[in-house]
Amino acid sequence: MSEAAPREQWGTRSGFLLAAIGSAIGLGNIWRFPYVAYDNGGGAFLLPYLIALLTAGIPLLILEYALGHRYRGSAPLTFRRLHRRAEFLGWWQVGVCLLIASYYAVVVAWAGAYTVYAVDGAWGDDPDAFFTGDFLAVAEAGTLGGLRWPVLLPLVLVWAVALGVLVGGVKRGIERANRVMIPVLVLSFGALVVRAVTLEGATLGLDALFTPDWGAMLDSSVWVAAFGQIFFSLSVGFAIMITFASYLPRDADLTGNAFIAGFANSSFELLAGIGVFAALGFLATAAGTAVDEVATEGVGLAFVVFPAVISQMPGFNGFFGVLFFGSLVVAGLSSLISIIEASVSAVVDKFALGRRRTVALVGGGTALVSLLYATAGGVNLLDVVDNFVNLFGVAVVGLVEVVVVVWLLRQVEPLRRHADGLSEVPLRRWWVLALTVVTPLLLGLVTLDNLRAELSAPYSTADGTYPVGFVIGLGWGAAALALAIGLALTLPAWRRPGVDLLAPPRRTEETLT
Ligand code: ALA
Repeated sequence: MSEAAPREQWGTRSGFLLAAIGSAIGLGNIWRFPYVAYDNGGGAFLLPYLIALLTAGIPLLILEYALGHRYRGSAPLTFRRLHRRAEFLGWWQVGVCLLIASYYAVVVAWAGAYTVYAVDGAWGDDPDAFFTGDFLAVAEAGTLGGLRWPVLLPLVLVWAVALGVLVGGVKRGIERANRVMIPVLVLSFGALVVRAVTLEGATLGLDALFTPDWGAMLDSSVWVAAFGQIFFSLSVGFAIMITFASYLPRDADLTGNAFIAGFANSSFELLAGIGVFAALGFLATAAGTAVDEVATEGVGLAFVVFPAVISQMPGFNGFFGVLFFGSLVVAGLSSLISIIEASVSAVVDKFALGRRRTVALVGGGTALVSLLYATAGGVNLLDVVDNFVNLFGVAVVGLVEVVVVVWLLRQVEPLRRHADGLSEVPLRRWWVLALTVVTPLLLGLVTLDNLRAELSAPYSTADGTYPVGFVIGLGWGAAALALAIGLALTLPAWRRPGVDLLAPPRRTEETLT
């Protein structure tokens, strides 16, 4: 493939927006947000979350759109064009993506299995025992155990669908798939939330979500969790939005698109929070106990508490169960596709392999790694890797990205002019201020403090079941692996014939309808 071959492009503006929203809305919104919010003080989490959204999430989203659009490349190509020494930043993000994709696919597979179980409530009277016993047969932390067939079968399906869509390319694959998935997701999840808030006791759960616990806000780990969640949820800091923006035509309104995608994502996230906490309120009322008695910590929230909610519902249990877990599958698949695309695009750009071969290589390789999480010990691996990759992968990459682009390479003004030249909404000083001062300062402080906290007391479950060596080796190993992948892939020479590594290439003139 030569530089003369035009870069793939979205077919329409709505096609791009649906894909960007499809990437953003994912497991992060339905599976991760409720348990992270719950683990971090419930109501206390909302304020740091909103502050992180406005001071870092949206400004960074605009920055990544502007970068990808101006330099028209995957993350490594974009950063390489920005500066010779910045390429590693793009590959580091690709490394983060690959690690996330390897466990992300497994959670989508869990949801797939549970969509089937929901039909007749296969989890029975004790969803906790079913999840950790019958379904995952959870092994002791630090051991792998055998492959779990109930996870493996849906996992194969998840990979087949995701890679099948990716082979189709940007317009015929990703754009077309999101045109179907996003409306299905919004309708099914919307119906579910309406049902959840009308359940008896729902207000009890909503009180738990919306009552601020000011004390928890003094805890820096709550803040770092909020930044981590915003980055994960908006898909910033892991190469995706740069890649997606590189497929936009010349005249795309970057700022407007970023606001639409950012607010659509957070609205959906809050909606999911409302739905989940309303359901918790219902469950607590039915059990005659408090909300914090029924919520479980960590990754099990959706797979332990929701089945219990579904079993307790007064009618149409199977239907609502399928809606919930089906929504998780659809949301997760559209994000998984975007996570892999960020890596596929990078490899196509640098190594000049065709899309089909790259999808097979990158997707197939990640699929093989994901088998680790489909073992009996997989859930422990997943919990630790998710925590570290987000806090010391995504959040740190985001911080380094801002420092490099804004402080070292002084790109804020050129990128602001680039975005303003295309948008009806001018960026003004708030954006510059957010990126030059607020984001690096807040993110820097919370990351440092989190590092201090992690070094003094390693990540663990509430009951302290993870051995210290397991957390340190695996967690730091995963965070370091993302960086190592980044550095390793920076080293080889660019193989794509005629690729212009110095200047933004000539643009094509297509216009979106
Ligand atoms: N942004 C995606 C999510 O929220 C990764 O799940």
